[in-house]
Amino acid sequence: MLKVWIVGAGGQLGTAINDVLDPLDAEVFNTDKEELDITHTDEVISFGEINRPDVIINCAAVTDTALCEEQPELAYRVNALGARNLSIVARKTGAKIVQLSTDDVFDGLSTTPYSEFDDTNPRTVYGRSKRAGENYVKEFTHKHFIVRSNWVYGKGDNFVNSVLEKAGSQKQLSVAADQFGSPTSARDLGRLILYLIGTNEYGTYHATCKGTCSRYEFAEEILKLADRNIELKPVPARESELASVRPAYAVLDNFILRIIDVYEMPDWRASLEEYMEEWKNKGGIG
Ligand SMILES: NC(=O)c1ccc[n+]([C@@H]2O[C@H](COP(=O)([O-])OP(=O)(O)OC[C@H]3O[C@@H](n4cnc5c(N)ncnc54)[C@H](OP(=O)(O)O)[C@@H]3O)[C@@H](O)[C@H]2O)c1
Repeated sequence: MLKVWIVGAGGQLGTAINDVLDPLDAEVFNTDKEELDITHTDEVISFGEINRPDVIINCAAVTDTALCEEQPELAYRVNALGARNLSIVARKTGAKIVQLSTDDVFDGLSTTPYSEFDDTNPRTVYGRSKRAGENYVKEFTHKHFIVRSNWVYGKGDNFVNSVLEKAGSQKQLSVAADQFGSPTSARDLGRLILYLIGTNEYGTYHATCKGTCSRYEFAEEILKLADRNIELKPVPARESELASVRPAYAVLDNFILRIIDVYEMPDWRASLEEYMEEWKNKGGIG
């Protein structure tokens, strides 16, 4: 049976991968910061050598972009050196490794979607530390999948849950109409990752749900599906109540997935509908 080590298992994506993974298909090792801090090199190597996973999926990261700006050392320790430590294990044990990355490796100044062949130019500490993580993975391993996504939502802190929370407590919400991306459900991203690890199609992938929208349009769709009727105000990103340190144009072209033509990500609206359906079934909580 395939042995899969999910690192950062308690985060949005780690949780979603556990949700979509059939336990009969794989033996899973879940670790998060509490059990195993990926910045502790010797402990990470020792865990890998003892458990000898076939696949390592690195979902662990410092994803709070403001925190990364405040504490760059922390960002680089986790996002770059943590990825390096897991790469050392992958190299020693011959495991495949999936490294999650982000549109923040680009500058966000483009007006057309970024493909895997476009040059990176991160403008934030988060983006620079994630690119450093990508580079370590490329340097230390051959059997890698670097998967860049954006606007991911699942169980945890994310834009969807923030909009729902605000809609529960206020009558008006100001959201950026000049930030663009592709909302991507953590479960759909998880499904793609489980597909990729069964292949030998190594390399860098852009993987977002199909379609593009502004933050404002995203919020509009969330409120519609939640049957919440509050006034939504389109504003520039700097005036948004849900602002974060992010590129203005975060649209990724799933170019490689498209040209190898074996896996298609679903449309973002359909994915959001599935997520909101579950949210409603749980009584609109979490
Ligand atoms: N969310 C997005 O929109 C998005 C978009 C594109 C790419 N990504 C990438 O996708 C991956 C998963 O994102 P996500 O949304 O699932 O992030 P998340 O919810 O923030 O989860 C990250 C997990 O990593 C853990 N972690 C932090 N530092 C650690 C350490 N030193 N050792 C071990 N675990 C540690 C966190 O634990 P604590 O919570 O206890 O700190 C958390 O459980 C990340 O690589 C991220 O960069 C995310």
